[in-house]
Amino acid sequence: MAKKDQVVVLGSLNYDMIFRQQRMPEIGETYTADSLQTASGGKGANQAVQCARLGIPVYLAGAVGRDASGSWLLEQLQGYGVHTEYVGLLEECTGVGMVNCLQDGSVRATIYGGANARVSREAVEALRPLLVDSRILILQLEIPVDTVACAVAAGRESDCYVILNAAPARSLAAEVLAGVDCLVVNETEASFYWGQPVADFASAELAARELITRVRDTVIITLGGQGSLVCRHNSRQRIPACRVKAVETTGAGDSYIGAYAAALLQGQDAFAAARFAAAAAAITVQGVGAQPSMPSREDIDGFLARTGK
Ligand code: RIB
Repeated sequence: MAKKDQVVVLGSLNYDMIFRQQRMPEIGETYTADSLQTASGGKGANQAVQCARLGIPVYLAGAVGRDASGSWLLEQLQGYGVHTEYVGLLEECTGVGMVNCLQDGSVRATIYGGANARVSREAVEALRPLLVDSRILILQLEIPVDTVACAVAAGRESDCYVILNAAPARSLAAEVLAGVDCLVVNETEASFYWGQPVADFASAELAARELITRVRDTVIITLGGQGSLVCRHNSRQRIPACRVKAVETTGAGDSYIGAYAAALLQGQDAFAAARFAAAAAAITVQGVGAQPSMPSREDIDGFLARTGK
C-alpha cells in the first residue's frame, strides 16, 4: 500500500511556564521575574504543531496526566490540527517545562517528565499500523530511551524515514543510531555525542564527519544564531541563520525540525529543506512561547520574499 504524506511524532507534551527575567538568581537568592506566560510545549508536541501549521497531516503519540494541564494541552494541539488520539491519559502528572528567558532571548529550560516518562513500548506497538501508512517518524529523547529504541526499530520495519532529535542528550546504543536516517542535535548535544566541544561551524564540521558514520544518511547540527550545518555522506552545507531580533528562543529547534520534515515531504532535498527550516525557526524566535509563534507556509513565504533568501 502506498504511504501517505503524513508524519508521526512520538514524544513529549509539557505545560511550559516561561519566565522573562533580567538575570538568573544566585544560589540562596529569591528573584522576581518580569513576566510569566504559560504555553503548550514539549519537544514532541512542538514539532508536531510546526508540521500542522505547514498543512502536513500529523499524529502525535505520547502521554499526559488526567489533570487540568493535560486536558488543556490536548485542546491546544487539536486547535492546531494535530491528531491526538494516540496520546494516552495516565495517572501521573502532565510533564512540565520551566523556561527562564533572559533579555537577549536566550533560554534555559528545566523539565519534569511526569507522564512523558511513562510512555512505554506498548505505545509503539499501538502505532505500528499508522507507521506503515506514514512517510516520516520524528522522535526526541524526552520519553524513555528504551521506548525510543523500540520506535526506531518499528520505524525501520515500517519503512519510515526516521528523524531523531537526540535532545536532551542521553547515551544511545550504537544499534539505535544505526537505525536513524537523520540525526538532529544542537551544539550542546553534539558536544555530548562527539565527546569534544562544538561551538561553531568549524568544530561542527569535525563533529558531523564523525557522527555521520553512526547514522544512515544525514546529520544536522544547529548552532543557534550562527545557523546550522547539514552533513550527508558525500556533501555538507553551512546554512546561515536568518538575521532577526530574537524575543524568546524556546522551540526554535522544534520549529526547524517540523519545518524540515514538512519540506522533505514536499520533495525538497536536505539542503533546501534546511533553508526552509531556518526561515521557520527565525520566525518562531520573534514571539514568546514555542507553539504560538510557529509560522504557517504563507508566513515563511512572506518572510523569504521580504528577506530575499
Ligand atoms: O524545545 C523546547 C521545549 O523543550 C519546551 O517546550 C520545553 O517543554 C522542553 O520540552
